[in-house]
Amino acid sequence: MPYIRESILTTVSPDGEVHIAPLGIIQEGDGWVVAPFRPSTTLANIEASGLAVVNYTDEAKIFAGCLTGRKDWPLTPIEDSPIPRLEAALSHDVLKVQSVSADDLRPRFFCKVIASGQHRPFTGMNRAKAAVLEAAILVSRLKMLPAEKIENEIAYLKIAIDKTAGPDEEQAFYWLLEKVIAHLAEVEAGA
Ligand SMILES: Cc1cc2nc3c(=O)[nH]c(=O)nc-3n(C[C@H](O)[C@H](O)[C@H](O)COP(=O)(O)O)c2cc1C
Repeated sequence: MPYIRESILTTVSPDGEVHIAPLGIIQEGDGWVVAPFRPSTTLANIEASGLAVVNYTDEAKIFAGCLTGRKDWPLTPIEDSPIPRLEAALSHDVLKVQSVSADDLRPRFFCKVIASGQHRPFTGMNRAKAAVLEAAILVSRLKMLPAEKIENEIAYLKIAIDKTAGPDEEQAFYWLLEKVIAHLAEVEAGA
């Protein structure tokens, strides 16, 4: 399996609207593949502009927020880039599309890094942040997973939250939990 960096991608539409979304960028040779599913705003924006900014952040609330309708995170301009970065980014890369593998479901944009920046120190790994990341991925796949698997995974991830979270990670996990509970209630009602 290739190495994947979980990031927050910023992209911009032809009329200048900035979009942010969590995306895993996939290592390939001397570049990175961005592979958004159809249909998505990220895909439409990359197709139109040929550019994306990868924000490397350890703020769990941004990953959880994007999955729960909280997308209004502060942005800041990057010199010589039409796309801004997240204010909270520890670092960023500007990606330029070099080639595209067309696909009806999930096209792959092969990109090279054309500029980078460092903004804040990385302050270490944390199990609760990792648990929020896993829970965010789980929430992005709720419709594809059986209820029992969802319940088991949440119960397991909550151990790291209970043992190692600060207030931000607790809040982030709670936002995701609300979405999981609503989904499970829907499944139950339809069963
Ligand atoms: C950590 C993480 C990684 C993700 N990676 C991908 C990805 O590689 N491709 C994708 O289509 N969606 C991915 N998602 C889900 C997208 O963030 C989500 O579907 C998003 O809303 C994209 O649609 P949009 O551009 O219309 O907002 C990921 C979600 C998380 C939490």
